[in-house]
Amino acid sequence: MTDTLTKLTYEAFQKSKIYFGVAHKTLSTQLLNWVSPPTPERKPQSLSPENLATLQGWLDKIIETDWQDAQRGVYPESVLFENEWEDFLTYYPTVWFDLFTIQQRANQKRYHEFAPDIDTEGYPKYYLQNFHHQTDGYLSDMSANLYDIQVDILFNGAADAMRRRVLPPLKQGVQTAFNTVIPQQIRILDVACGTGRTLKYIRASLPKASLYGIDLSPAYLRKANQWLSEIPGELPQFVRGNAEEMPYVDNYFHGITSVFLFHELPPDARQRVIDECFRVIKPGGVFVICDSMQADDFPSMKTMMDNFPVMFHEPYYRHYATDNLVERLEKAGFENITTQNHFVSKYWVAHKPVEA
Ligand SMILES: C[S@@+](CC[C@H](N)C(=O)[O-])C[C@H]1O[C@@H](n2cnc3c(N)ncnc32)[C@H](O)[C@@H]1O
Repeated sequence: MTDTLTKLTYEAFQKSKIYFGVAHKTLSTQLLNWVSPPTPERKPQSLSPENLATLQGWLDKIIETDWQDAQRGVYPESVLFENEWEDFLTYYPTVWFDLFTIQQRANQKRYHEFAPDIDTEGYPKYYLQNFHHQTDGYLSDMSANLYDIQVDILFNGAADAMRRRVLPPLKQGVQTAFNTVIPQQIRILDVACGTGRTLKYIRASLPKASLYGIDLSPAYLRKANQWLSEIPGELPQFVRGNAEEMPYVDNYFHGITSVFLFHELPPDARQRVIDECFRVIKPGGVFVICDSMQADDFPSMKTMMDNFPVMFHEPYYRHYATDNLVERLEKAGFENITTQNHFVSKYWVAHKPVEA
């Protein structure tokens, strides 16, 4: 009885996030169309009723999977109900104000714009862009404050459920390969950890493990540090650095995750990051990538995939959509590679050979 009630509450909570995301997108699109319409080349194509039904089915399924994984003990049920209400209430109004700035910048094709006080020295050239038209790219505190709200709206409230799908293969991979290692000595790295949401869920799933996060953005790491310091458990160790050249010794981590990074990297950087992950992961370790679904996964969803880089500044997405990450992982030395899809996303689970 209690379980049924909890499940119903969870479903209602998730549904409210879906309705909120859809309502926000509908209202903001109407308002922008009226005040500052997109240029013709930025107009998305309409999705067919079949595509919309598929999306709804996928959303229902990921909500169910998320629930089931909590029931199986992959992570506690309480994480399903988490929401950063204080942040949401503080920053949601700014999401609206930012819309108009974004629209103007996007219409005028200004893709490399940063506030004058932002230091842009020392970053890879491909990084210094307003990815998804984000104001200041990834390089301001305001960008870090708005990012999670914007991503959750984009994914109709399912962004965290998508991130949590890395947890079952991560937990299983680590516990199977390193069952003699005490939990405190397990080291997990999240590559391009951003504001630390995935690390927060890894903390819930593997509460005793030592956690590490690396990202190029000082502002996003500050936010990650703020969030992660508020929850019980040891603080993760954050490093500001490039995932193409990580400051860790060889064979160090038992598990590595990376969420929503690869579609924002040019092809050669994508390979270098995978090679680095192979170098720093221990033999037997598991590497789990989560990113957008790809073109071949669901050809019937082509319109939706074509729309994404039309609406958002995502300069490497088209190449990513047809890139063979299994081949890249194999080239680095990974083996036993499997893939799975959940709501508009794709997951690669790869292992470093034990004898490597
Ligand atoms: C789309 S965000 C994803 C953030 C986070 N993983 C999440 O789940 O929301 C991409 C992140 O990758 C980081 N990033 C991009 N290129 C990077 C690189 N070469 N090395 C380290 N971080 C990078 C950005 O700073 C940003 O935080």
